[in-house]
Amino acid sequence: VSETGCLSIVVLGASGDLAKKKTFPALFNLYRQGFLQSNEVHIFGYARTKISDDDLRNRIRSYLEKGSAKSEEVSEFLQLIKYVSGSYDTEGGFRMLDKEISLHEEFRNSTEGSSRRLFYLALPPSVYPVVCRMIKLCCMNKSHLGGWTRIVVEKPFGKDLDSAEKLSNQIGELFEEPQLYRIDHYLGKELVQNLLVLRFANRFFLPLWNRDNIDNVQIVFREDFGTEGRGGYFDEYGIIRDIIQNHLLQVLCLVAMEKPVSLKPEHIRDEKVKVRVSNTSLTHFSFPVMPIKDEEVVLGQYNGYRDDPTVPDHSNTPTFATVVLRIHNERWEGVPFILKAGKALNSRKAEIRIQFKDVPGDIFRLFSCLGKNQGRNEFVIRLQPSEAMYMKLTVKQPGLEMSTVQSELDLSYGQRYQQVTIPEAYERLILDTNYGRLQI
Ligand code: BG6
Repeated sequence: VSETGCLSIVVLGASGDLAKKKTFPALFNLYRQGFLQSNEVHIFGYARTKISDDDLRNRIRSYLEKGSAKSEEVSEFLQLIKYVSGSYDTEGGFRMLDKEISLHEEFRNSTEGSSRRLFYLALPPSVYPVVCRMIKLCCMNKSHLGGWTRIVVEKPFGKDLDSAEKLSNQIGELFEEPQLYRIDHYLGKELVQNLLVLRFANRFFLPLWNRDNIDNVQIVFREDFGTEGRGGYFDEYGIIRDIIQNHLLQVLCLVAMEKPVSLKPEHIRDEKVKVRVSNTSLTHFSFPVMPIKDEEVVLGQYNGYRDDPTVPDHSNTPTFATVVLRIHNERWEGVPFILKAGKALNSRKAEIRIQFKDVPGDIFRLFSCLGKNQGRNEFVIRLQPSEAMYMKLTVKQPGLEMSTVQSELDLSYGQRYQQVTIPEAYERLILDTNYGRLQI
C-alpha cells in the first residue's frame, strides 16, 4: 500500500454477486501478492443480511479457493474480514460500521500513521445517493494524522442522461472529485491498458490509423452464459446499459481518440471526451458518434431468458445488441464502428477487430489460393480469453508455385509472457484507488 498507517476497505453489498465474484477475489489476489499487508489492512463487509463474520467468510471462500491459492492462505485472508449488517438508508448500521473501523484504526495507529478509508459500493445505483449520504454523515476519516476517505462506484451509473446527471450531482455535493472513483473494470484489462502504448508508441500504426486505411472497426463482447440469477438487475438495464454504453464505449474511445498531450489522467480523459463531444457538426453538436440510425441497430433476446425466475415473464429486454456508431471527425468520417454484445452465446470472447481497406490495384488476384481478391489485412486485439494480438496479412504460399495465402503475425501473451501472471482487471483498479491514480 502507498502510505503508512492503516487502510480500511469497506465492501458495501458484501453478500452480493459482484462482491463474491470480483471484489473479494481481487482483494485476495492483492493480498497474496503483498499489496495488502495484514498489519495495516482490514476489510469490512457491509450488507443488510443478518449473518456473522464466519457466515460471510464461508460464503466467499469457494470464490477464493481457485487456481494456485492454498487453503491456509485463504483462511489467513478471511481473518482480515469483518462483517457488519445494517440497512442502507438509516444511520444505525453506518454508526456501527464507523465504530468497527475506528477500533481497527486505533489498534493500528497506536503509534503513528494516517487512516485511509475506501468504500467500495458493490450496490445498485439506486442506493448510491443514500449510501453516500450515510458515509458522509457517519463514516468519514477523522484521524488528525491525515489520510483520506474515498468512494468507488461502478456502472450502471443511472439509466439515462438525466438520471446519470442527477446521480452525479447528488454524489458530487457530498464529495470532492478526487475522492470519487467511477470505475469501469474493462479499463483495467491488460490489453485495454495496452491500447495507448500500441497506438502511440509504434510507428507502424501512426500513419495507418484513419479513414484512408481502415474500412471498419468492430468491438465485440460475447459471453457463453446468461443471467444466472442476476435477472432482477439485468432485466432493468439490458445489454446496452450493461455492456455497450460503458465497457465497449470506453474501448471505442481509446481506439478512436487523438494522442493525448501527456499520460496525465486529465489529458487522457480530455481526448476521450472529444471522441464523444465535438463541434465538427453543428447539428450533432454534442455527440459526434450520434445519431444512431434505427436500421443500424439490431436487438435480440436469447431463448430461455424468460425462464430465469428472476426475469419477468413478458420481458422484452435485449440480451444481444449490435449498434453501428459513426464518428464525425477528420480521422474517422465514414468508418463504421460496429459494437456487438451478447449474453448466452456459443463462446466467451471480447475483441477489437480493425479491418483495413483492400489493396488498390491488386496484382496478385489470380494467384490467390482463395481464387478471388486477397483477404483483407486485419489487426485483432483479443482482450479475453487468452490475451493476444495478431495481424492478418497476405504472404506467398511457401513452395515452388507463386500463390498467395492469408497468414498471421501473432503475439499470444500465454506463449510470449509465460512467466507473467496477467492481473485481473479489478486488482489493478482497486490498487489504483489506493494510490490515488485515476484510470485511463
Ligand atoms: C459486467 C456485467 O460489467 O461485466 C456482466 O455487468 C458481465 O453482465 C461482466 O458478465 C463481464 O465482465 P468480464 O470481465 O468477465 O468480461
